[in-house]
Amino acid sequence: MLRLLQTQRAELPQPEAKRALILGVSSPRSLGFAVGEKMQARGWDTILTTRRSKERQAFRNHRLVHFDYPDDVDDIKLVDNVDGLVFCLGSTQIGEKNAGLTGASYDNFVHTLTVSCFAFIQIVREMSQRDYKPSSVVALSFLGSERVVPGYEMMGVAKAALEQAVRTLAYELGPTGMRVNAVSAGAVSTPSARVLPNFRQVQAAMAAMTFIRRNVGADDVANAVSFLLSDESAGISGEILQVNGGLRHGLSLVH
Ligand SMILES: NC(=O)c1ccc[n+]([C@@H]2O[C@H](COP(=O)([O-])OP(=O)(O)OC[C@H]3O[C@@H](n4cnc5c(N)ncnc54)[C@H](OP(=O)(O)O)[C@@H]3O)[C@@H](O)[C@H]2O)c1
Repeated sequence: MLRLLQTQRAELPQPEAKRALILGVSSPRSLGFAVGEKMQARGWDTILTTRRSKERQAFRNHRLVHFDYPDDVDDIKLVDNVDGLVFCLGSTQIGEKNAGLTGASYDNFVHTLTVSCFAFIQIVREMSQRDYKPSSVVALSFLGSERVVPGYEMMGVAKAALEQAVRTLAYELGPTGMRVNAVSAGAVSTPSARVLPNFRQVQAAMAAMTFIRRNVGADDVANAVSFLLSDESAGISGEILQVNGGLRHGLSLVH
């Protein structure tokens, strides 16, 4: 049964408003929350999913659904008329801190790939079978999918899988009218990012090396997701949009 946690809205959306479903929001610092705020400011109806109960007050301007993968995966079927789907789930077992990929366990591999990639494939597949399909799907990724970032080993493997899933789903679902893309975000201080080993070091190193000489923030990421959800990006599918200040293309050294 769908557990609708709250329905209170600061401002009710227009009847014709498009609807964004944003999966995986923990706190007002979450990237998914920034996306929700952005889409609402642009007149969209927003539904956020969370596993947290403490933060409900902070999310009061959005509809909120309890979603714990995989237990609640069938509940997502009850959320209908979704125009834009944003996948923000990501999880790995932090207990393997400093173990590197050579020290990774099979259990953590299965956990990380299941939550961070297979859940995406499963939910997009389910939505693609609906009469009312999302026209745009966006997943959140990280440069650790293609570069070695110390501390990000298993998640890097999962993000590489996620990015290939984005391209393949874009190919398979394009004929149905669905576009599938990802935003590869720079290092933003969020609940899950902060518990990764070396996060502060990675964030500081990235700030020093980006072409734009600063780290990107949640708002930069939300702007890119909003663009990919909107019809302004109607010609774009299967793309991994880099929102990391140019870092993918080289290093800038601050003097
Ligand atoms: N922050 C960054 O620097 C950064 C950079 C690039 C990409 N990303 C990606 O952006 C996405 C959002 O991350 P974030 O940084 O905004 O951190 P976040 O707020 O912690 O978001 C991750 C979300 O995934 C949820 N989640 C994990 N396992 C789940 C499960 N089994 N069922 C349901 N929900 C589950 C978490 O819920 P709980 O809090 O309840 O565990 C959390 O809401 C992630 O895919 C992340 O890899 C982040």
